[in-house]
Amino acid sequence: MTTTTYKPYRNGQTDNSSNGTSALVAGAAGFGLGLLAAAGRRAAVQAVTAAAGDWFEGLKAEHKMARTLFEKLAETTDDDKAKRATLLLQLQHAIGKHNVQEEYVVYCVLREHGQTDDADELHAEHGELKQALFDLEMIGKRQQTGFLDRLAEARAAFEEHVREEEDDIFPRLQSSLDAEQAKLLTGRMNREGFKVA
Ligand SMILES: [Fe+2]
Ligand SMILES: [Fe+2]
Repeated sequence: MTTTTYKPYRNGQTDNSSNGTSALVAGAAGFGLGLLAAAGRRAAVQAVTAAAGDWFEGLKAEHKMARTLFEKLAETTDDDKAKRATLLLQLQHAIGKHNVQEEYVVYCVLREHGQTDDADELHAEHGELKQALFDLEMIGKRQQTGFLDRLAEARAAFEEHVREEEDDIFPRLQSSLDAEQAKLLTGRMNREGFKVA
């Protein structure tokens, strides 16, 4: 009868499979830590909005933050290519997160409360603003010429959009929500924002 002895590590052979497993475990741990760090960063970003108060106050605070970035970009010159790129990235992130909160939650609640045309109009305006931010990024990567003109157009569209939201459409929604509905909307909006913060 032949006896087979299983010898996994012979002649100083490197334990590749074990090392591979260790590397995987270390990688997974690192990935886990990375996820934790990312979650912490997202929580910190969303906390600024949540701290402003209810959904409407949170959105108004974000409008102000975006306005500040528009103003900083308007102060740049065609020689400030790197600075423009950094500020534009910040503006894209700020407006991107803001728009996700509105499109996935607030505008849906607008429709639930009969403000369908308002929701559709605001949503279309977000599309125009995304296009403007894309155009600015492309101009910023190239010769810079025309950057400030396109920025001024984008800023004007942004301000008109914000005026409609803050002075007309959102106050009407707010007046049609009871305290419980407003609380639900605030929580739902902050959860959506956290995902992309
Ligand atoms: Fe909006
Ligand atoms: Fe907004």
